[in-house]
Amino acid sequence: MSLPPLELPRVIGHRGAATYAPENTLASLREARARGATWVEFDVKLSGDGVPLLMHDDSLKRTAGLDRLASDTPWGEIGGLDAGAWKAPRFAGLRVPSFAEAIACLGEEGLGANVEIKPSPGREAETARATVDMLRARWPAHLPTPLLSSFQDASLAAALAAAPEYPRAILIEELKDDWRARAEAVDAVGVNTNGKKLSRARAGEIKAAGYLLSVYTINDASLARDLMTIGVDCVITDTPDVILAALGT
Ligand code: G3P
Ligand code: MG
Repeated sequence: MSLPPLELPRVIGHRGAATYAPENTLASLREARARGATWVEFDVKLSGDGVPLLMHDDSLKRTAGLDRLASDTPWGEIGGLDAGAWKAPRFAGLRVPSFAEAIACLGEEGLGANVEIKPSPGREAETARATVDMLRARWPAHLPTPLLSSFQDASLAAALAAAPEYPRAILIEELKDDWRARAEAVDAVGVNTNGKKLSRARAGEIKAAGYLLSVYTINDASLARDLMTIGVDCVITDTPDVILAALGT
């Protein structure tokens, strides 16, 4: 690891504050801040014409109501879709934000970010490059350096090649013995994993090796406390207010 250790908060809002507002919208980012989070996690992928935007699924259907792939649809169409109505009628009219719009929102709210690079299949390197290009162009100087993460090692490798100054975390649903080789291959400073599948032994191994350890998606107060006792540094949660209260932060 060549980068200095990153100062992660103990709690990060997942997709903003996904329990309370439509995930990956500006309203969700703001909701996380209003509920006490100082950082948020969100997912970045590309439109058909290469614009980075906030979206979890490959398809636009679940959260934006259009039965098409994001990677087949130009930003001009995606940006006009309703990203709130699926959650509750009161959220109707919210839009799918571009990554540039999200960064501006973070600047206004004073929020740090774990930027998850979530490429559509086949666009792993391209998505990573677009993400770090946008960070270099727009990331506010008053915010802490963001943490990049991805389930796709190819995205992290591309981020490392294009912009090594942004710290990286490998993102693995269930850690296997190869986790350290994967982390070293992309010069990661952190390991992000499913907290419900993390053993005490594995957590100890990761911490002994000097990595930051973050877990998702933990909405249960007592589980969050237990995870902290085995060495977890940061809990990514849909309910940041609940977890902040549970951890006494
Ligand atoms: O980055 C943590 C978490 O968001 C990873 O899973 O599927 O919610 O993006 P997912
Ligand atoms: Mg995510």
